[in-house]
Amino acid sequence: MTEGLLTRRRFAVLGLGALVGCGGPRRSGVVGMSAPGAEAVDGAGSLKAHAAARGIVYGCAVDVEALQNDAGYARLIREQAGMVVAENAMKWAALRPGVEAYRFDEADALVGFAETNGMKVRGHCLCWHKGLPGWFAGEATVENARGLLVEHIERVAGRYAGRMHSWDVVNEAVEVRDGRADGLRDSAWLRLVGEDYVEVAFRAARRADPQALLTYNDYGLEGEDGDSLRKRVAVLQLLRRLKQRGVPVDAVGLQAHLTVGDRFGPGMMAFLAAVRELGLQVFVTELDVDDRKLGVGVAERDGAVGRVYGEFVGLVLHEPAVNVVMTWGMTDARTWLKRADGAGERCLPFDEKELPTPAFFALRKSFDGRRV
Ligand code: XIL
Repeated sequence: MTEGLLTRRRFAVLGLGALVGCGGPRRSGVVGMSAPGAEAVDGAGSLKAHAAARGIVYGCAVDVEALQNDAGYARLIREQAGMVVAENAMKWAALRPGVEAYRFDEADALVGFAETNGMKVRGHCLCWHKGLPGWFAGEATVENARGLLVEHIERVAGRYAGRMHSWDVVNEAVEVRDGRADGLRDSAWLRLVGEDYVEVAFRAARRADPQALLTYNDYGLEGEDGDSLRKRVAVLQLLRRLKQRGVPVDAVGLQAHLTVGDRFGPGMMAFLAAVRELGLQVFVTELDVDDRKLGVGVAERDGAVGRVYGEFVGLVLHEPAVNVVMTWGMTDARTWLKRADGAGERCLPFDEKELPTPAFFALRKSFDGRRV
């Protein structure tokens, strides 16, 4: 424990945050430093604690390399996250340097970190048309692709069997614009393995890890626009087909890569209710908010991004099937989003200085408002 942390905690406990000037500890652990009623953002004030009090697991995607080399980052993740998922370290490209070669160092490190700190782990992802290694295009064929997929899932999900909260087994398999009646994306997996590749992947995952909750994960399911509506219809059809065929799917992942200006409402809620009626859980898996439509002013951006977090999470938590909320990162210092104007991101619960943003408070308030 660093001295900074002790200081931070003590200030929080004593409620003296309002007296701490900006020249104080690097991150004070208190908010509204000049405002009365400052409150701790760690311990009982953390996102994971507020979520857990309402039966929700809060967590985030992590950069495993940073987890190993940046102590401040690791501390923030330990402080706030009840569950972690590798942003990239469990994708094919990270695990499969060669057709026969696997490397598990980062993936193992993440699972070890989570276990040491009493956190849950999600796996992401076993079958996706992106995140594939360079060799895949040249080596995968109609003859060997099914075997490659099944062997990969057995090896990877099998390695962590019994230790994972859930796996994103198939990621982003639906693309309505590809024009197929079944809504499936015209992906390498579809072309090489065939239409049953989704089923093949889920069955292999269940065999390899009977305990993990097996998840179908996708984006673009949250809005009230026509694209979201059509995608929800197609995903629901896919889920119904899978359930009818006895395919072991346990949950749907809403990626929730949102944009300022998005509207959420009855279309999404009806979808979530239909998912629940199929006997499935719902996880918010990759939440963040893109503000590139706005100018560079931080106050305006923070207000708008915080409102999107509050509106979206407040709404989805009305659905009892939603019990996990993961953000796609914890701090703006490490996010996959990049504004073209170089203004720096303001899309996650903590900013580049590891100070809580309006998104943090919106998340916490949304957790607090969940009916238990
Ligand atoms: C992204 C990572 O955040 C980036 O670092 C990487 O370069 C590309 O992938 N949907 C997903 C995630 O399911 O795996 C993606 O992660 C973001 C979109």
